[in-house]
Amino acid sequence: MAEIIFREVEPDEVKIFVRKFGKYIEYYNCFHFGEDCYSLAAYDGSEPVGFISIYTKALIPPLADKTDAYIDAIEVDTYYQRRGIASKMIELSEHWAKERGYRQIRAWSSDDKIKAINMWYALGYCLCPATEGFRPHDSNPPIGYYVAKILSP
Ligand SMILES: CC(C)(COP(=O)(O)OP(=O)(O)OC[C@H]1O[C@@H](n2cnc3c(N)ncnc32)[C@H](O)[C@@H]1OP(=O)(O)O)[C@@H](O)C(=O)NCCC(=O)NCCS
Repeated sequence: MAEIIFREVEPDEVKIFVRKFGKYIEYYNCFHFGEDCYSLAAYDGSEPVGFISIYTKALIPPLADKTDAYIDAIEVDTYYQRRGIASKMIELSEHWAKERGYRQIRAWSSDDKIKAINMWYALGYCLCPATEGFRPHDSNPPIGYYVAKILSP
């Protein structure tokens, strides 16, 4: 295996990730672009083997002057798992968020994502059991964990 390279994803590259990782990427609009967003991928040569995408937003009033970075999606190709690729992408994302003054970084994993939940815990994220709140009209919302880590200044 060649050395894994990490670099930001351009909007016109999303279709490559859809082909490789699945249509859910398009369906859930997993890649975020723009000034306050960060989309990064891991490559083995020209082959994408993992990605992470983050957007940022203000907390709910009365804390609307506070913001956090939200990891909307992260996946690593099965063949490349357990080689530290997700850890590196998360480390680079934390660095990106911290440099921009974000105080915390957050994600959410459903309770069937045991690998991911183990990973968040191993990387120093705390786990909060929660019903996922992005789909308030869903009569059967998925159960999982919000995970969060403080980004010390
Ligand atoms: C979760 C996922 C991103 C981890 O990617 P990865 O590159 O294999 O992760 P890393 O190699 O950086 O692992 C870091 C640590 O997390 C923990 N971990 C990762 N995968 C694990 C597993 N299958 N079982 C137990 N612990 C695991 C370990 O502590 C690991 O450190 P170690 O290998 O030194 O023991 C990957 O398994 C994946 O893409 N899963 C499917 C998609 C998914 O669940 N995405 C997250 C949804 S929020």
